This record gives sequence, C-alpha cells and structure tokens, in this order.
Amino acid sequence: MAHRRWLVTGGLGFIGSSFVRLVLAERADLAITVLDALTYAGNPANLAEVAADPRYRFVKGDIADAKAVDAAVGDGVDAVVNFAAESHVDRSILDPEAFIRTDVMGTHVLLEAVRRHGIARFLQVSTDEVYGDVEQGASVEDDPIRPRSPYAASKAGGDLQVLAYFATFGTPILITRGSNTYGPYQYPEKLVPLFVTNLLEGETVPVYGDGGQIRDWLYVDDHARGIAHVLEHGTPGEVYNLGGGNSRTNLEITHELLRLTGRTWDESVRHVTDRPGHDRRYALDSAKARTLGWTPRVDFAAGLADTVAWYRAREDWWRPIKSGEFRDYYRRQYALR
Ligand code: NAD
Ligand code: TYD
Repeated sequence: MAHRRWLVTGGLGFIGSSFVRLVLAERADLAITVLDALTYAGNPANLAEVAADPRYRFVKGDIADAKAVDAAVGDGVDAVVNFAAESHVDRSILDPEAFIRTDVMGTHVLLEAVRRHGIARFLQVSTDEVYGDVEQGASVEDDPIRPRSPYAASKAGGDLQVLAYFATFGTPILITRGSNTYGPYQYPEKLVPLFVTNLLEGETVPVYGDGGQIRDWLYVDDHARGIAHVLEHGTPGEVYNLGGGNSRTNLEITHELLRLTGRTWDESVRHVTDRPGHDRRYALDSAKARTLGWTPRVDFAAGLADTVAWYRAREDWWRPIKSGEFRDYYRRQYALR
C-alpha cells in the first residue's frame, strides 16, 4: 500500500514525538519522516517505540540548513508540520540568538522549500505566547500579537512570515497557537517536569516571584491531536487557537504536584527572583478550533496525575538528562536566584 507521507520537523521533541506516535498508531494510511537537529531537547528515546516501524524514517538535519531542508521537503511529502523550535523562555533570556536562527530563519527556509516543491499543506506550530500578556478575557486569532520575551518574539516572527507567504504567494499554510502543554517526555526544564522530577529527587522547587502567574494547561496528546485535526480540516491561511481550558496559577500547580509526590510546602518550595518581563497571564479562546471539530479530551486532574506517574516510572528517561547538559543550564539559570 502506498502511504501519504508527512514531514515532521522537531519530531524528537516533546509535542512532536507525541504527534508522531499518535499518527503512526492511529493512521495506517500515513508514513512519517522526522527531520530533527538533535539539539539538547531532541531525544531519540522519545520515539524508541516507533523506530522499527517501516512507515517511520528519521533524517538528522537543521531547519535553517537550506540544502538539508530542500532534500527532505522534496522527498515525496504531501504535508510539512513544523514543530522544530527553540522552545524555552528562560533559555531565550540567556541566549536569544539560537531562537532567531531556528524560529525565524528556520521557518523562512522551510517556507521557501514548501513553495518551491508545491507542498499541499504547511502547518506552523505556534504558541499563545505571541499574544503577550493578557490581563483580561481570552485571545482570539485576530488579536494583535504583542510578544514580550525573545522566545515569543521569535515565534511571532515565524508566524508573520507564514502569514505573509499565504498573502503573497498563496502558499497553503495553517498556524496553530497552543497553550502551555504538559505530559510525558517533556524535557525537565519547564514548570511541570522540572518540579515533578525535583520533587521526586527530594530537591526544592523554584517558584518565580509570587507564583500568581496564570497559564492555561493542555495535555500533550490533546495538543498533538489538535494539530493533526487542523492540518486535515483547517482552511489554508487561517490561525487556530488550541487552549486546554485549564487556567491555573503556578501556586495551584505547585500545590497539586506536592500532593501527588507526597512532599510538603515548607520542605520543598523556594520563592526565587522573578523572570524578567514575566507575562502574568495567558488565556486562549479556542471556539474556532472547536467549530472545526477539535476538543481537548483529557481532564486536567487526571492528566497531571498520569504525568506524575509517568515520571515516577520513567527515571530511566529523565535521570540521564538531568545529569548531562541540563546541569550547566540549571546552574546558570538558578544559582544566583
Ligand atoms: P522541544 O523543545 O521539546 O523540542 C524541539 C525539537 O525541535 C527538538 O527535538 C529539537 O531537537 C528540535 N530542533 C530544535 N532546533 C532545531 C533546528 N534548527 N532544526 C531541526 N530541529 C530542531 O519543544 P516542544 O515543547 O515539543 O515544542 C514544539 C513546538 O510547539 C515548538 O514550536 C513550540 O514553540 C510549540 N509550543 C510548545 C508549547 C509547550 O508548552 N511546550 C506550547 C505551545 C507551542
Ligand atoms: P514554563 O513552563 O517555562 O512555560 P512558559 O514560560 O512558556 O509559560 O513556565 C510556566 C510558568 O511557570 C511561568 O509562569 C514561569 C513559571 N516557572 C517558575 O515559577 N519556576 C520555574 O522554575 C519555571 C521553569 C517556570
């Protein structure tokens, strides 16, 4: 049987690997090529369970490398889904340049290849952070974008190029803007996996500022399913918000993680200097994606409990990460706070 093939960039990361596992498990008609540069966040262990699937192919390459991208995009693919990014706000404050290279230049290189090869669909995986701080209400897709961190600004730069290729060249693009995502296989630098693994190790957890910041939490498989749904059912040229509908303060998340790991507040929580330019609140209105037929399925309390159970069971996955590159990063990021 001839399969349609999708090119998934950044497929060895957190959300991309969930997308690849789900597509291969649920769609017998599809094959996947992953193009990934294997940065600190790209981990072959994330796709170990599909590595032997004949419908899966891996190519090591950088999305900012025009030759590598041209070869991968020109290799008989029907659609390109771009997950590849530098994705952590704190790292963008320490080292913004890598974000411009991948999130801005890399997106440009992909768009050129998609245009040249006449690819039928290009989906850019973006974030609610491009809307900036949302004091009240919820962002809709037509709201102005007001990014405030180097990460959000580089993602916004990607989004604007993608929209410009639709307006100028008619390139059949789509954009999803997902909210804060949690679940298995997330590199332990972001709030949930950092706090869970620190708590399991008996370490403290660093809460930035007063911990009253609000995020809207989305389970990783719900995010991946939303991206697949928009890719197949969305209208080219359009943006779709994918929000979890679970607004929580960081303090609420911290309390819940302490409960799930059996740790106490006094022994575990350290309030540390706030993140510079820290966005107080993100909130997404996802009515447009719901009209298309997508809705998140995973209940937040159950999703968080499953996530903690996964990290508890998969020390083999996160312990090697925490003893490697991560250590230097952790020192740079937290030692002086
Ligand atoms: P991640 O950091 O876990 O993974 C990123 C992947 O991209 C890694 O496999 C890495 O090796 C690869 N990569 C990085 N630079 C590359 C390059 N130049 N060329 C090729 N591959 C490269 O990221 P994630 O959390 O899975 O996020 C995926 C996408 O979703 C990103 O575009 C991010 O902006 C977006 N997003 C993430 C969240 C979240 O909460 N994690 C929320 C909304 C949107
Ligand atoms: P993060 O997971 O980095 O996602 P984002 O900044 O993209 O929303 O952070 C989520 C929230 O948790 C954010 O308000 C910052 C806060 N936070 C802490 O308080 N301490 C930490 O060590 C980290 C990584 C995040």
